[in-house]
Amino acid sequence: MSKGPGVQKMFDAIAGRYDLMNRVMTMGQDQKWRRFVVKTAGDPGDGLTLDLATGTGDIGALMIDTHPRARVVGGDFSLNMLKEAKNRFADKPIHWQACDANMLPFADDMFESVTFGYLLRNVDDALRVLREVRRVLRPGGRVVCLDTTPPAKNMLYPFVRLYFRYGIPFLGRFIADDEAAYAYLTGSTMDFYTAPQLAVLFADAGFINVGYQKFMLGTIGVHWGEK
Ligand SMILES: C[S@@+](CC[C@H](N)C(=O)[O-])C[C@H]1O[C@@H](n2cnc3c(N)ncnc32)[C@H](O)[C@@H]1O
Repeated sequence: MSKGPGVQKMFDAIAGRYDLMNRVMTMGQDQKWRRFVVKTAGDPGDGLTLDLATGTGDIGALMIDTHPRARVVGGDFSLNMLKEAKNRFADKPIHWQACDANMLPFADDMFESVTFGYLLRNVDDALRVLREVRRVLRPGGRVVCLDTTPPAKNMLYPFVRLYFRYGIPFLGRFIADDEAAYAYLTGSTMDFYTAPQLAVLFADAGFINVGYQKFMLGTIGVHWGEK
């Protein structure tokens, strides 16, 4: 069965508490990684840039703050998340667009850059989505992806594992009133590609100059590549 409808329903349900939960769960680090994403995507000039799976819109908003001439599109398939984004950033000239990452409603070669935070873990076929993203990027354009990544099995692993297994669902219950959604975050992170595996997938999708950097004890990865 496809993950899509369940994921869409889950984000529709947690939209109102999503930002607070993010700040608490990451101990206030989450905006730092989004700033790194925007910096890595580079300056789109007055061209189009797409923040896919934009959710409540943070990466799109940072993009327009950093590059005020850019024409920013924020896309997501959860209408409630997009509603939060619109309310939060009503003062910013961002075009909010309902769309599914598997089948983007955009022509080939349209965007200078495409960013996405915490998308790939939630789709059935990450390679298909990466190919779709590559299709809408202009030749030479840049993709930048932020996601959780399974922690390495080093000395800190037992503590990181405990936090993912018990800490995050606990916070999910009390802050977002949805333990299951945050237990899903833990499960989908543990089952996701490691950072080197995800880099290979970027190359398989046709991206060149692929690289990545890890954050937060190796549990967060930012990957990039070019068309
Ligand atoms: C964890 S939120 C991330 C939001 C935002 N990027 C951030 O940095 O906080 C993941 C978002 O991906 C969206 N999403 C998941 N699968 C999608 C798909 N196939 N197409 C479009 N959006 C999708 C969800 O609706 C949700 O808003």
